[in-house]
Amino acid sequence: MTAPLLNRNCSRPVSSNQHGVHPQLEKVVRRHLAKPFQRPYPHYAISDFKAVEKTVEQHTGPLIFDSFCGVGESTLRIAEQHPDALVIGIDKSVFRLGKHEQGYQLPEQDNYRLLRADTDDFWRLAVDAGWQLEKHFLLYPNPWPKSSHFKRRVHGSPLFSSLLKLGGKLEVRSNWALYIEEFTLALSIAGQTATQQPYLPDTTITPFERKYQGSGQSLWRCVSTLD
Ligand SMILES: C[S@@+](CC[C@H](N)C(=O)[O-])C[C@H]1O[C@@H](n2cnc3c(N)ncnc32)[C@H](O)[C@@H]1O
Repeated sequence: MTAPLLNRNCSRPVSSNQHGVHPQLEKVVRRHLAKPFQRPYPHYAISDFKAVEKTVEQHTGPLIFDSFCGVGESTLRIAEQHPDALVIGIDKSVFRLGKHEQGYQLPEQDNYRLLRADTDDFWRLAVDAGWQLEKHFLLYPNPWPKSSHFKRRVHGSPLFSSLLKLGGKLEVRSNWALYIEEFTLALSIAGQTATQQPYLPDTTITPFERKYQGSGQSLWRCVSTLD
């Protein structure tokens, strides 16, 4: 049986046993900033990276990442809005990425690529290669709402320092206000200026965004220009 594209519960607000900023946030963020993540790369991560490396290095304009891009709808929309940029959509789900060709592809838009990759490896490889982003979108990353899963959230993971090193104008969106509050706080602990605000899109650009907005949920975002 085919898995549903959107989790059946995703139109419900996030429910969590955590009711304020995670008590370990500051300690965990500072520890990750002080000590680089050194997990060895699986060999497939390196070959997946090499598959896109040449395209990026031959591109002379801005580079934009759309991490956790799902079906890549937002990647296409961002590419339309930034015709000089190369936009890379990254997601680890072959199933979601496979949906792109079935419902979202515009063959005439050729300034974007979708890549099956794990950000745990891809961000670090991009940092090692010296890439610098113009913009970086994290649209509705998995919230990992259980308090005990804090370290799986982007800002609670050792990958947070790679995200910072990639630079650029960062935009994180979520339907969980606490996620955005934590993200903003984690950025400020890292010495970055960040703002959080409600997000009311005129046009939705991802399936999750559309679903959340359609079910009346509030949307939130954090923006920061990373030094
Ligand atoms: C909640 S969905 C949001 C998808 C899309 N941005 C949207 O709004 O429709 C989160 C996505 O993150 C992807 N994902 C989760 N962890 C990942 C990782 N470590 N590396 C790459 N993609 C990941 C999942 O496969 C999923 O497509």
